[in-house]
Amino acid sequence: MIPILFAMPGNEAFTLHLDRAISCEVGQMEMRRFPDGESYVRLLSAVHGRDVIFVCTLDRPDEKMMPLYLAARTARELGARRVGLVAPYLAYMRQDARFKEGEGITSAHFAAFVSDFCDWLATVDPHLHRHHKLNEIYSIPTKVVHAAPAIAEWIAERIENPVIVGPDAESEQWASQVAKAVRCPYVVLEKKRSGDREVEVSAPDTTAWKGGTPVLVDDITSTGQTMIAAVRRIRDAGLPKPVCISVHPVFAGSAYEDLRAAGVEKIVSCNTIAHPTNEIDIAEALAVAAVELMHILPIDG
Ligand code: R5P
Repeated sequence: MIPILFAMPGNEAFTLHLDRAISCEVGQMEMRRFPDGESYVRLLSAVHGRDVIFVCTLDRPDEKMMPLYLAARTARELGARRVGLVAPYLAYMRQDARFKEGEGITSAHFAAFVSDFCDWLATVDPHLHRHHKLNEIYSIPTKVVHAAPAIAEWIAERIENPVIVGPDAESEQWASQVAKAVRCPYVVLEKKRSGDREVEVSAPDTTAWKGGTPVLVDDITSTGQTMIAAVRRIRDAGLPKPVCISVHPVFAGSAYEDLRAAGVEKIVSCNTIAHPTNEIDIAEALAVAAVELMHILPIDG
């Protein structure tokens, strides 16, 4: 039997992109809140004996996790052969250390939670920094899709003479891969973060520039403060307005408007989180990853 895909609320459009890339059925489910705020989940399509895939991007994760958990447990209860999760954006990856006494390494707790109710996970560029691989914290098979090739293709087709700028040391992994694929120079700035919204970024070394167009590339844009600080340094250095590319356009609160107001040429993102800036499609690569996971897993999960 072909796998069945269920779109968690808000993931319907992305699920249709996936469905075009994998031969599967899109399942129907009913999901709502009881008057007291608890989640109601009902799978309307048959799942017995089938590979079931839930599609749920995990920005704003706290409100999404309970319905996802209940849906996945229900699929298992109703006899699903295996339950996979396609999470284009994977939450809780940034708390990967105990930065202050009394904190937990919540990336690991979140991973243990997901590993308990899913048989596999496919995602796009999770924020791997102090954890180097997902299997350091996830105990289920995982596959990571890299957005760099799709970002590089977008840049190569549209930007004259690009110079890729990574706003901080962590972004070097994306900036360098994108620059290599586009065959253009890249620079990485230094970032100091002293609070959720307090970010300072070093001035760029402009030797790589020579009339190039700055293209800022980062994995997550959350408060937008990292990008905004980098845009300011670029503008202070007398360089042209940058194009800002985000793998995961989280855009918390007014981040998108704030970034636009900072003086950017354009803001572009991958479609890991639905946003008007989505111009780079990574659904097909994610579909391939999901299929590979289903092939390598033994039937009993
Ligand atoms: C952190 O290291 C990440 O790569 C991003 O730079 C960071 O998450 C961006 O966050 P914000 O938009 O809140 O500055």
